[in-house]
Amino acid sequence: MLKDKKILIGVSGSIAAYKVATLVRLLVKQGAEVQVVMTNAATEFITPLTLSTLSKKPVFSEFVKDETGSWNNHVDLGLWADVILIAPATAHTLAKCANGICDDLLTAVYLSAKCPVIFAPAMDLDMYRHGSTLENLKKLQSFGNQIVSSNYGELASGLVGEGRMAEPEELVEILKEKFDNKISQKLHGKKILITAGPTQEPIDPVRFISNHSTGKMGYAIADKLAKAGAEVTLVSGQVALSLPDDSINLVKVRSAKEMFEASEKYFSDSDIIILAAAVADYTPATVADKKIKKKEETFNIELTKTVDIAKTLGQQKRDNQMMVGFALETDNEVENAIGKIKSKNLDMIVLNSLRDAGAGFGHDTNKIRIIHRDGSMKEFDLKSKQDVAQDIVEAISARVVEN
Ligand SMILES: Cc1cc2nc3c(=O)[nH]c(=O)nc-3n(C[C@H](O)[C@H](O)[C@H](O)COP(=O)(O)O)c2cc1C
Repeated sequence: MLKDKKILIGVSGSIAAYKVATLVRLLVKQGAEVQVVMTNAATEFITPLTLSTLSKKPVFSEFVKDETGSWNNHVDLGLWADVILIAPATAHTLAKCANGICDDLLTAVYLSAKCPVIFAPAMDLDMYRHGSTLENLKKLQSFGNQIVSSNYGELASGLVGEGRMAEPEELVEILKEKFDNKISQKLHGKKILITAGPTQEPIDPVRFISNHSTGKMGYAIADKLAKAGAEVTLVSGQVALSLPDDSINLVKVRSAKEMFEASEKYFSDSDIIILAAAVADYTPATVADKKIKKKEETFNIELTKTVDIAKTLGQQKRDNQMMVGFALETDNEVENAIGKIKSKNLDMIVLNSLRDAGAGFGHDTNKIRIIHRDGSMKEFDLKSKQDVAQDIVEAISARVVEN
């Protein structure tokens, strides 16, 4: 998959630079053509000689090659690459790239590039969590760059926390995903709204009506999309899951009303909308302001309909937006799912069946059928939710029209 791919590795001055030797070795072994560009600070951490030996190419750091006046052409380097991976990306280099400062070869190459750019930050946990670093990461992402979340673990400072650069093997996988089935080319920079998890409809200050959704499917899809370079906003009900990718904009909600309001807020700016949440159809008509006391033998709660998020957004959908729904049916599954495509103006529906063992709520596996608006349908085997997420993302990207 990486054979003959032109990969430019930008190395900046972090202790994690030693990992680049392994990264370059792995990439060259897979047949990739690797060009290393280092900042001056990076050369203090690993020698250009090591990286030029492993990449089988001269390593560049400076604009000007020697006293003859010949120079390394940053524009050509930027245009040569199929993908640029800046790893490790220091706080300093991130800040420069986020703000258009190009006072060295690497940052000038970055500004000249037209290909996808991936940053793999590495730094101490406080530097990583500093407001300015977070702002810079957000800014870089808003320009369509992909950020590879740092790992949690022991740091060179001796502290333990987030900030460790992703391992070379992980970075190779991310690069492979970039070239995988053109998914990344199609989804890179696309704005995607995804809802996930259950809603909670309050009865009184301590009780609510909810459902068994764990959010695992929606979170797995959000992760795949983010790894493909999409700008993902995840509107999530209350779930016990951690955010799978730091680049995801997480909006936490509780009730169907909150989920609707958050979804509507991001809807018009989204290219693709995936509605994977299990939203309550009904909510208590009134919410008691004090805890309801146990008195009578029976107790009734009057329920009223919630806003139909899919239907309401479907009515506002533009021709250049794609909307994907989910259906969990117990009978007349396909018929009902096709009915939902029409009534909610969806482009595609993912049908889960509660009849299949291991599928649906709470399981780590799922078995789906994907039905398109044109009536075409594909049935998939029982798979892990990660693999199902991959199938869904592939189905979505296959319908994305390339710009
Ligand atoms: C031993 C040592 C380790 C460092 N590790 C990091 C690091 O992991 N991440 C980071 O952002 N800066 C780190 N720094 C600071 C950078 O090297 C410094 O900000 C430098 O100016 C970065 O330049 P560059 O981004 O042009 O490569 C380290 C400095 C030293 C001396």
